[in-house]
Amino acid sequence: MAAPIKYTAVGLFLAIIADLSGLVHLDDEFEGSRTLTLEHSFTIDGNAIFSKRGTVVIRSLKGNKAHFTPASDFTREDINLLKKASSQKGLYQLRVPVKEGSQQYVSTFIPACALYESSLNDQLTINFDQSGEVLGLSVVTTPGICVGLNVPASNFSDWKTTVEVMQTVSGPVPDTQTYIDKMNRDKVEKEKGGQNDNRSFFGKYWMYIVPVVILMMIATSQDPNAGGGGR
Ligand SMILES: *[C@@H]1O[C@H](CO)[C@@H](O)[C@H](O)[C@H]1NC(C)=O
Repeated sequence: MAAPIKYTAVGLFLAIIADLSGLVHLDDEFEGSRTLTLEHSFTIDGNAIFSKRGTVVIRSLKGNKAHFTPASDFTREDINLLKKASSQKGLYQLRVPVKEGSQQYVSTFIPACALYESSLNDQLTINFDQSGEVLGLSVVTTPGICVGLNVPASNFSDWKTTVEVMQTVSGPVPDTQTYIDKMNRDKVEKEKGGQNDNRSFFGKYWMYIVPVVILMMIATSQDPNAGGGGR
């Protein structure tokens, strides 16, 4: 019975190796530089007007290598918009397309005052799924609280933005080819298991079979001696 268990373990191990190599393959496929356009809106009374904030260049998803390039300087107009949104308890909204060129967006927001009081010091996190599409976007500022500061305009000369990218590690995904391979492996295992059972049957019961055979041989050879003189 130990042998089939051993083969199952080997099969499982092979299946894990196959899955891992599949993941590595996927990662390789989606490595390589690409860009996402980041858009923002200083939203007052729920009226979001998105404009380009900059570009996120992702060099490597696995290595978390990404950086942000602003589209333009933070203009006086931007400063006024941010100040207005901040004082009127508006929102600062951000969005990125699920992939470059897509009209589908993933978005997030913080109170506008948080960005204002941080002097444009924000940290972005972009989450990607296994296929390399954007799953989530989040933003925090440092400091992350609003205490009613009056920040000088000179503090808004440039973004102090950091970007982090993360790829979600998913569990097993439906994969027909791997499943078929697994079925074939199971079949081979079963055949091997069957052979082992046959062998182990003789191996296991030889001590019962051999005495019976010997007894039968003794019995047949002693019969002609009429009742056995030994007794
Ligand atoms: C303006 O920026 C300077 C330098 O980054 C910082 O020390 C200061 O706290 C900022 N002012 C406000 C009101 O946030």
